[in-house]
Amino acid sequence: MISEDKVPLRKPLLDVLSGLEPTRTPLWLMRQAGRYLPEYRQTRSKARDFLDLCYTPELAVEVTLQPLRRYDLDAAIMFADILLIPDALGQNVAFREGEGPVLEPVRGRDALAGLNTEGLHQKLAPVYETLRQLAQRLPPPMTLIGFAGAPWTVATYMVEGRGSPNQAAAKSWAYTDPIGFDVLIQLLVDATAEYLIAQVDAGAEVLQLFDTWAGNLPPSQFNRWCIQPTADLIRQVKAARPDVPIIGFPRGAGPLYGDYVEATGVNGVSIDTGLSLAWAAKNLQKKIAVQGNLDPLALVAGGDILKSETDKIFAALAGGPHIFNLGHGIVPETPPEHVAELVSLVRSQDGQ
Ligand code: CP3
Repeated sequence: MISEDKVPLRKPLLDVLSGLEPTRTPLWLMRQAGRYLPEYRQTRSKARDFLDLCYTPELAVEVTLQPLRRYDLDAAIMFADILLIPDALGQNVAFREGEGPVLEPVRGRDALAGLNTEGLHQKLAPVYETLRQLAQRLPPPMTLIGFAGAPWTVATYMVEGRGSPNQAAAKSWAYTDPIGFDVLIQLLVDATAEYLIAQVDAGAEVLQLFDTWAGNLPPSQFNRWCIQPTADLIRQVKAARPDVPIIGFPRGAGPLYGDYVEATGVNGVSIDTGLSLAWAAKNLQKKIAVQGNLDPLALVAGGDILKSETDKIFAALAGGPHIFNLGHGIVPETPPEHVAELVSLVRSQDGQ
């Protein structure tokens, strides 16, 4: 008989990303920690502001674990934000109530002089501490996910100074002075590679790259500002930590998801709600694990539409490596009991 401690630990998310058959369909949800949970709002009120929440390990660990206490999920995603990198590079970043992020805009080459990686690890040390504590506390079958924003998406916030519907400021710079804009992108590639390597050393087992605004690049610019920087970043991370699986999320990329999967070196790809499941099964899943893509608003609705949409995702993707997730993050209006409903729908697909 094999004693308990010799049985290899099976982690469904890691198994799928390594090309193995998982014990069940791995399930986690983007923004699984957040304002839809009353206990998140309570912990959030103990912090001075949102950045303080991200930089206080005790509170960040607590909000990371909250959804796992309620729901049978396969992964924890560390609680942080993609805009910690601009903050750590020396840009002024603030999150204002009801307004979202506000940054002092970086416009043009001169503004780059104030940014550098000197204080990076010192500033981000609380994030590494959060990961170390989570790695100790997470129940064994759960996988710990670290993350960062992809260079293009982070650059859009740095240049615009806030969220924007069309990323006009970043695009204008990229179009009128591509060499100068590339200096910013390269700075982000190098800083983000260092950040992700440190996350792995602190206990992250999988990394996800959020490229929320990839789909707003025209196809002619997609290679230069989405694929190439992502490939470069992944090359740097894998040169240092070859075994860590990386999931890419080039939201809205449409058919360019195919090029992204071919050329970036990702081990898994997160598909947005707009991507055809049949297309993803045919063109992506033969090469790589596919994560997604339930509409977050179907989760708000619950009931019949939640069930039928979940069924459709399984019908299309259950034949290959699949990680169940949403097509974008949970929205604050989501009733927490609908998440419980979704978890049982996903588990019943596996006969559990
Ligand atoms: O998924 C998780 O549970 C981990 C935590 C996480 C957050 N942000 C916490 C957060 C992750 C992975 C992110 C990623 C992130 N942050 C992205 C990429 C993914 C996406 O949603 O497209 C982007 C673009 C950001 C930047 C950002 N952070 C914006 C635009 C905003 C304001 C909009 C909003 O939802 O309020 C944030 C704030 C933010 N990040 C919140 C949370 C829980 C809400 C802050 C609050 O409590 O007031």
